[in-house]
Amino acid sequence: MTICFFFFGLTLVILLSGIHSATLTVKNNCPYTIWPATQTGGGAAQLSNTGFVLSSQASVSVVTPAPWSGRLWARTQCSTGSSGKFICATADCGSGQVACHGAGGTPPASLAEFTLASKGGKDNYDVSLVDGFNLPLSITPQGGSGENCTTTSCGANINAVCPSDLAVRGSSGSIISCKSACVAFNQPQYCCTGMFNSSNTCKPTNYSMIFKNECPHAYSYAYDDRSSLFSCTGSPNYLITFCP
Ligand SMILES: *[C@@H]1O[C@H](CO)[C@@H](O)[C@H](O)[C@H]1NC(C)=O
Ligand SMILES: *[C@@H]1O[C@H](CO)[C@@H](O)[C@H](O)[C@H]1NC(C)=O
Ligand SMILES: *[C@@H]1O[C@H](CO)[C@@H](O)[C@H](O)[C@H]1NC(C)=O
Repeated sequence: MTICFFFFGLTLVILLSGIHSATLTVKNNCPYTIWPATQTGGGAAQLSNTGFVLSSQASVSVVTPAPWSGRLWARTQCSTGSSGKFICATADCGSGQVACHGAGGTPPASLAEFTLASKGGKDNYDVSLVDGFNLPLSITPQGGSGENCTTTSCGANINAVCPSDLAVRGSSGSIISCKSACVAFNQPQYCCTGMFNSSNTCKPTNYSMIFKNECPHAYSYAYDDRSSLFSCTGSPNYLITFCP
C-alpha cells in the first residue's frame, strides 16, 4: 500500500513538473508605446509570441515551456516606413515585422534573461546591460522561494549619464540608448574575450562602472556576477516591467 502511494505520488510529481510552464507578464509603465520581443536560446523552438506592441500601461502575458532559456527586451520609436518595413530606433531585430521570429535585438538593448527550470528545477534570472542600455526594467517573481528570489531591476535612466563615446542619438539629437564599452569598442578587455575570458581576468572598467553605479543589481559586463544573478525555486511566474 505504502509503496503503491509512493509510486502514485512520484508519478504525480513527474506529471506536474512535466506540464509546468511559466507565465511572463510584460507591463509597459513607460509614458509611451514600446514593442517588446522574446528570443528563445539553446536552439529550442521560439515562443509563439516573438514580438508585440504594448501601449503605455498595457500588459501582455507570454507563456514559456519548462525548461526554457531566453531573453526579453523592448524596442522603442518603431514605425512602418514607406517601404512597408517595420523598423525601430532602438533594439531593432531586423525582421521588418513586429514579430522577431528568433532574431535578437541589435545592441544597445537592456535585457531580461531567464533560465527556467534548469538543473534541480531552479530558475535563474537577471537584468543585463552587457549589450548596453535602452530602457529601465525590473523582473519580479510572483511566487517561488529562495534567498535571492526577489525583484531585480535597472530602474535608472542610463541614457541621462551616458558618456558621448557610448551614446546613440536619435534624429532629434537626444540620447536614445547607451552602448556598453564592448559594443562600442569591441576590445577583449571590455568583451571578456581572449585572455580576458574569465572572472579572474575580466574586471570592471571605467565604462562598466558607469552602468554598475546606476544599476548595482544588473550585469555591467559579461563576468559581472556581483549581486547580479537571482534565482527561485518553486516555479514562479514573472512580471517584467519596463520603466518600473
Ligand atoms: C579562455 O580561452 C582559452 C584559450 O584562449 C581557452 O583554453 C579557455 O577554455 C577559455 N576559458 C573560458 C572560461 O572560456
Ligand atoms: C576610460 O578610460 C579610457 C582609457 O584609460 C579613457 O580613454 C576614457 O576616456 C575613459 N572614459 C571614461 C568615460 O571615463
Ligand atoms: C544569493 O546571492 C548571494 C550574493 O550574490 C550569494 O552569495 C548567495 O549564494 C545566493 N544564495 C543563493 C541561495 O543562491
